[in-house]
Amino acid sequence: MASKTLPYAFFTLLFFHQFHFSSAQTTTVVKATYWFPESGYLASSINSTLFTHLFCAFADLNPTTYQVTVSSSHSAPFANFTATVQQKNPSVKTLLSIGGGNANASTFASMASRNSTRKSFIDSSIKLARSYNFYGLDLDWEYPSSATEMSNFGYLLNEWRAAVANESKTSNKTALLLSAAVFYTSSYYGGLNYPFQAISNSLDWINIMAYDFYGPSWAPSMTGPPAGLYNITRSQISGDNGIKAWIQAVPAKKVVYGIPFYGYAWSLVNANDHGIFAPANGTATAISSDGSITYSQIKGLKNFTAVYNSSIVTNYCYSGTTWIGYDDTNSTSTKVTYAKGKGLLGYFAWHVGADLNSILAQTASSAWGA
Ligand SMILES: *[C@@H]1O[C@H](CO)[C@@H](O)[C@H](O)[C@H]1NC(C)=O
Ligand SMILES: *[C@@H]1O[C@H](CO)[C@@H](O)[C@H](O)[C@H]1NC(C)=O
Ligand SMILES: *[C@@H]1O[C@H](CO)[C@@H](O)[C@H](O)[C@H]1NC(C)=O
Ligand SMILES: *[C@@H]1O[C@H](CO)[C@@H](O)[C@H](O)[C@H]1NC(C)=O
Ligand SMILES: *[C@@H]1O[C@H](CO)[C@@H](O)[C@H](O)[C@H]1NC(C)=O
Ligand SMILES: *[C@@H]1O[C@H](CO)[C@@H](O)[C@H](O)[C@H]1NC(C)=O
Ligand SMILES: *[C@@H]1O[C@H](CO)[C@@H](O)[C@H](O)[C@H]1NC(C)=O
Ligand SMILES: *[C@@H]1O[C@H](CO)[C@@H](O)[C@H](O)[C@H]1NC(C)=O
Ligand SMILES: *[C@@H]1O[C@H](CO)[C@@H](O)[C@H](O)[C@H]1NC(C)=O
Ligand SMILES: *[C@@H]1O[C@H](CO)[C@@H](O)[C@H](O)[C@H]1NC(C)=O
Ligand SMILES: *[C@@H]1O[C@H](CO)[C@@H](O)[C@H](O)[C@H]1NC(C)=O
Repeated sequence: MASKTLPYAFFTLLFFHQFHFSSAQTTTVVKATYWFPESGYLASSINSTLFTHLFCAFADLNPTTYQVTVSSSHSAPFANFTATVQQKNPSVKTLLSIGGGNANASTFASMASRNSTRKSFIDSSIKLARSYNFYGLDLDWEYPSSATEMSNFGYLLNEWRAAVANESKTSNKTALLLSAAVFYTSSYYGGLNYPFQAISNSLDWINIMAYDFYGPSWAPSMTGPPAGLYNITRSQISGDNGIKAWIQAVPAKKVVYGIPFYGYAWSLVNANDHGIFAPANGTATAISSDGSITYSQIKGLKNFTAVYNSSIVTNYCYSGTTWIGYDDTNSTSTKVTYAKGKGLLGYFAWHVGADLNSILAQTASSAWGA
């Protein structure tokens, strides 16, 4: 250890220059959930002590200016979101989520395809996050769906990170967090890889959407586990398959496992054949038009028989010809324990307003531990 002094001085210098002014934050755990006003659940009802991070959804991408905007009906609840949720937990961090499943993916593709429109997105998103007092930004582009769009997504992430670091330096504020919600596995529909290097270098983490595997709208002829952890056949889709692929591609500490606080209801062909993969006849429309149903609504159903399947790690319940696949405390705690065991950064749930009494949020938080 002859040259002890020199490296020490060198690293001090490096540390000072790189981090003193920009003060990037290190996230050690993510226990998160999404909130959106259309859920009817008030932000002030969130028990934020159960979470480290809360996503406020969704800000929009203007298709003409490519600036990130907040609709007029969202502007008041979004502007007050951080102050509201920090009343119960002053250290909870908030992120403004952009896009979502109902946003137009072509607008995101178009924005990401040019330097000038990426800059509009980036600059406006940072400005909005600061003016609304968010701690970070989350991009839900569902999904980049060509090789070019994946490359452009990567350019966007790298330029976003550079701009966030620059803004931190000039404002002397802690750098904004950057995350993105991504497909359950590391390549979108067979072979279309995400930009792994850009994700690793430029995002604090990714939210893996490990749900919507089976649902009556797109898999009507048999019941299925909407968000199973394990597959028991090769053709079956699972969270474990997705996570294994992701952690081969990016560091496990960049990965956050997504858990649904909702399920899907099918109509059984035969009330006496009520297992997983039993013949079904589409959506149980008495439940809802697309069969989706919140955890709290499921727990309110009368006369249903509930089952936990520990090989797949899913819960389901049935009554007559109605069959519902969902996550209960059993599957939620098993998934969170799995996420921790794989060395992931944490978990997130979609969505907080579906778990009115915080039963699943409480289960997840306890399963992860302090
Ligand atoms: C919120 O969660 C904490 C931690 O589990 C619990 O102690 C507290 O009672 C909960 N608060 C409410 C209002 O449910
Ligand atoms: C914003 O949130 C704070 C804290 O919850 C609350 O006191 C205030 O009334 C809210 N303001 C608006 C305009 O909703
Ligand atoms: C989505 O955006 C593209 C490009 O901005 C546009 O051509 C298309 O009409 C939009 N689709 C919908 C459903 O709004
Ligand atoms: C546009 O973006 C690409 C990808 O990041 C970069 O290589 C190129 O230098 C940029 N061009 C300009 C003019 O900024
Ligand atoms: C860095 O921030 C300054 C001050 O906000 C701004 O003028 C400049 O354009 C930024 N540079 C980049 C590369 O974002
Ligand atoms: C930046 O903030 C830090 C801590 O908040 C403070 O010590 C420092 O003086 C500030 N620097 C400038 C240039 O404002
Ligand atoms: C689960 O799926 C993966 C990927 O298709 C496959 O390699 C594995 O063998 C499957 N597991 C079982 C138990 O079939
Ligand atoms: C889970 O469901 C599958 C498919 O129906 C079945 O093969 C398996 O035996 C079940 N496992 C348990 C523990 O019930
Ligand atoms: C449901 O059953 C009806 C009548 O047997 C049949 O015509 C229809 O195709 C079935 N739908 C699905 C989604 O299986
Ligand atoms: C409860 O479920 C059983 C079995 O599906 C059915 O026979 C019975 O009629 C149901 N009772 C009520 C009150 O719905
Ligand atoms: C599943 O969880 C429920 C409620 O927490 C519990 O009563 C039940 O025993 C659990 N079932 C299994 C098979 O672990």
